[in-house]
Amino acid sequence: MRTDTPLTIYRKDYTAPSYLVDTVELGFDLDPARTIVANRMTMRRNPASGQREIELYGEEIDLVALRVNGKTLGKRDYRIDGNLLRIPNAPEDVVLEIETICAPEKNTALSGLYVSNGNFITQCEAEGFRRITYFPDRPDVMAKYTVMLRAEKQRYPVLLSNGNLVEEGELPGGRHYAKWEDPFPKPSYLFALVASNLVCQEEKFKLADGRTALLQVWVEEGNLDKTDYAMQSLKRSIRWDEERFGLELDLDRFMIVATGDFNMGAMENKGLNIFNTKYVLANPRVATDLDFQGIEAVVGHEYFHNWTGNRVTCRDWFQLSLKEGLTVFRDQEFSGDMVGTDSGRAVNRIDQVRTLRQVQFPEDAGPMAHPVRPDSFVEINNFYTVTVYEKGAEVVRMYQTLLGREGFRKGMDLYFERHDGQAVECDDFRRAMADANGRDLAQFERWYSQAGTPRVRAAMRYDAAAKTVELTLSQSCPPTPGQPDKLPFHIPVAVGLVGRDGRDIPLVIDGEPRGNTAVLELTAAEQSWRFTNVPELPVPSLLRDFSAPVVLEYDYRDEDLLHLFSHDSDPVNRWEAGQRLAMERLLKLTADVTAGSRMQLDDTFVDAMRKVLTDDALDPAFREQALLLPTENMIAEQTEVVHPLSIHMARQFVRATIGTRLRKELMAAIDANQTPGEYSPDAEAIGKRALKNLALSYLAAATDDNEAIDLAGQQFEQADNMTDKAAALGALIHARAQSAAGALQDFYDEFQGEALVVDKWFALQASAPSTDVGAVRALMQHPAFNIRNPNRARSLVATFCMANHVQFHVPDGSGYQFWAEQVIALDALNPQVASRLARAMDRWRRYAPVLQAHMKKALQQVNGQKKLSNDVREVISKALA
Ligand code: ARG
Ligand code: ZN
Repeated sequence: MRTDTPLTIYRKDYTAPSYLVDTVELGFDLDPARTIVANRMTMRRNPASGQREIELYGEEIDLVALRVNGKTLGKRDYRIDGNLLRIPNAPEDVVLEIETICAPEKNTALSGLYVSNGNFITQCEAEGFRRITYFPDRPDVMAKYTVMLRAEKQRYPVLLSNGNLVEEGELPGGRHYAKWEDPFPKPSYLFALVASNLVCQEEKFKLADGRTALLQVWVEEGNLDKTDYAMQSLKRSIRWDEERFGLELDLDRFMIVATGDFNMGAMENKGLNIFNTKYVLANPRVATDLDFQGIEAVVGHEYFHNWTGNRVTCRDWFQLSLKEGLTVFRDQEFSGDMVGTDSGRAVNRIDQVRTLRQVQFPEDAGPMAHPVRPDSFVEINNFYTVTVYEKGAEVVRMYQTLLGREGFRKGMDLYFERHDGQAVECDDFRRAMADANGRDLAQFERWYSQAGTPRVRAAMRYDAAAKTVELTLSQSCPPTPGQPDKLPFHIPVAVGLVGRDGRDIPLVIDGEPRGNTAVLELTAAEQSWRFTNVPELPVPSLLRDFSAPVVLEYDYRDEDLLHLFSHDSDPVNRWEAGQRLAMERLLKLTADVTAGSRMQLDDTFVDAMRKVLTDDALDPAFREQALLLPTENMIAEQTEVVHPLSIHMARQFVRATIGTRLRKELMAAIDANQTPGEYSPDAEAIGKRALKNLALSYLAAATDDNEAIDLAGQQFEQADNMTDKAAALGALIHARAQSAAGALQDFYDEFQGEALVVDKWFALQASAPSTDVGAVRALMQHPAFNIRNPNRARSLVATFCMANHVQFHVPDGSGYQFWAEQVIALDALNPQVASRLARAMDRWRRYAPVLQAHMKKALQQVNGQKKLSNDVREVISKALA
């Protein structure tokens, strides 16, 4: 916690480390109140630096002893300046010994070494290692680690760290020890230790080269019935990386540890992944389909980091997307391959597009907008964003779109050939892709350096006499903070031409056949392509499979969209046509509500929805996506002045209208999509449940449909899995059914022993338009609420501020007042969690004037605090800038 103005760090100021570290020996005497850390490093001057000063970072630790080559340093031999410890004029080769003390039980920030439910856990990315010992805590310093853990044996029977267990034994006084050795050099952010009474599910697994690896999933004793899916996902991940990228597990042992107190999703520490319980624990009784999918994705993600992140890591934190964008892309491809079918893959892709539009596009248009590779930051933890992760993954995906799957694989192979064991930059990845394929990807660099979501505008001219289509694409990109003007991007635009019969017209460009979908490379501000042999006026299908993270503008007529919605061979664009039809109407209805006009929904739209709902040739999962309306966030992004209540009412009106007008069809869909028998989280069953539960929610949204309420009530009582149970409960709450309160109580009584389900219980209430800020304050007094637990704080406080638009934005500003209080309270405990909550106000300038004034006041209130973390300070000051 600092009170002075925080420092901005710039990418251009990068300098090489003055000293390199070859080996690190760490000794831990673990004690919740007073842990002693002994650190012995062998270091040598970095010839690439020319500096003679050793620079070490340390935070919230007490220095006990400091020795250079056996000699204790006196106060005049070193300087401590804030978090920086400098030893000037150090010898060429140094054995540096440092003893420090920290207090894990007081560590509420959950960064560094902390205590979670009595167990010792670490989180070192990005800069948590400096809260354990003084160290050149930067990713370009890679060293080999040996770790000795000592702790009370009865309380902490299990002692884990990175790599291989080389020794363990007893110590006097009821203590014991374990020694771990990691054979691979690694940056400090990948260090981990766990000292606990956890238990594990374990399995030996045969690797492609014939070696056997020991796989373990560590959890609290009562959770051993929830580890199966994580273990299966881990085995599938290992197999997949062998097959798709020829990458093998390089350790004899791979461990996953679940903790209930974790700031993020999970962490890829070498050989010892540490996970939020949310992404490990699952069985049908307590976890939803979404939870199962999340586990598979995150287990895959952290495992894939072993190559993309650990073997090849980042030179500095500005390069974060080098590992995160690439690894998200890899986990997305993994999930797609696990589903297996084209239609299932498309449904996954649609989910990715929804996330981008729902969260990333707003970020890219707001005060925190930053390039995939940022140029500056105050607090790096603020840059673990959807831009670095999800837009970063889109950037990686575009290489594959431009180079093909094989070309992409060649680029990956060259990347590892060149950089295994190194800390590198995003540019190195781009160069590997270019060189492996003999391509010039210089302009592609702008995807890393320019923030903002590009707009691509399309215009089509059909010449009936010549039977040609001329397609003109132009691009622009709105200004973002610090970047008023943008240069053209290199944008792959996948296009098709759909004929009157609904079939693709084979594409011929400049006399060359290009199949049914051609990837056009838009590199200039404006470019045209001429398609020949086009027998009739087609409907263009643009940006197929969402081939680039852009906003695509084309003046579609309703009938064009209806045509694509029924026929496009590209399922993502088929869905997209439906979204456009829906968005047009939602925007019009929103304006009607604001103007006080009567709302009305046209038959054309309802009929289109009916058609897709009843089309049995389509997978239920796809039908669910097609029926799902753009979210309130997405609608807000499309309106000049945001009136949250109008948006909510417009969207509710459409949902209720569908519920009423398609009542019969929705009822039939519920019947047809039951999943009797044993629960299974396979894509087909997930799709059926999703469609069934969406149908239920539409029916329940229709006012005075008692039968729908009864149906939801029945499903709530009879469901044998959490997906159906939570969906039914949600439907009851949102319909403000009389039975909702009783159902909520029953739900709590049944699941109060399951922390992750209690989170759902809070979140369901926090997001309901019937829950006002007073009700949230009351829920905070519930015995199960605990603001120190990030999952719990997020489930109630963040869900209310970010997902309950109606109540958060009440015109008297009381929602914002609540937000300010919570940001301040949380910041004193856990800056990372506080800073995420702070971003609920990102788009404040776009709201209606009354709301805006209240929002500004709340922002200023937080900003006026003398004591604020760098994390929150950065977010708030950028919002107000
Ligand atoms: N590298 C982790 C992941 O992507 C994220 C950890 C970030 N933690 C943090 N405190 N910034 O899986
Ligand atoms: Zn990651």
